[in-house]
Amino acid sequence: MSFVAVVDDQVVGHVLLSATRLDAPRRIVDVLSLSPLGVVPEFQRRGIGTQLIAHALQAADSQGVPLVFLEGSPHYYGTRGFEGAGAVGFRSPSLRIPEAAFQVARLSAHEPWMTGTFVYSEAFWAFDCVGLRDPEA
Ligand SMILES: CC(C)(COP(=O)(O)OP(=O)(O)OC[C@H]1O[C@@H](n2cnc3c(N)ncnc32)[C@H](O)[C@@H]1OP(=O)(O)O)[C@@H](O)C(=O)NCCC(=O)NCCS
Repeated sequence: MSFVAVVDDQVVGHVLLSATRLDAPRRIVDVLSLSPLGVVPEFQRRGIGTQLIAHALQAADSQGVPLVFLEGSPHYYGTRGFEGAGAVGFRSPSLRIPEAAFQVARLSAHEPWMTGTFVYSEAFWAFDCVGLRDPEA
């Protein structure tokens, strides 16, 4: 799912939710990844990013999606529906994702048995979009 924020007919923000999976003990669960989120610099700090996240989570919830994962600032996302994923039973897909950045939003369809490893789809690996690379390497 892809959503844009529009001001005076101009697209000023965008958020994408992509199909990903959770490798849970009972079975594979279809979940979503929120990435990327972007707001045009001149329109930042007006709540547009916050509204895009809220809209994306509402859309996921209304489709019965139990979990939305992301990599990002805990300061930003932690007050917008997300929490540290490691602390609530999820395993990161890469050692290159800082622990604090690995976050999840547990939605109304989430059930306690839905724990396990978050698995990105092939596109994230093919375009090397998982975690951080050492800039010195
Ligand atoms: C991050 C981003 C989407 C926020 O959008 P926005 O519309 O400016 O956000 P809002 O107005 O809803 O919220 C403002 C808050 O975001 C914080 N913020 C803005 N950019 C931030 C950043 N790069 N890292 C952490 N916090 C950030 C502000 O300090 C403010 O914090 P507060 O709520 O504690 O006061 C926007 O700054 C952006 O597009 N950045 C470049 C792309 C990016 O980094 N995307 C996130 C990838 S995980």
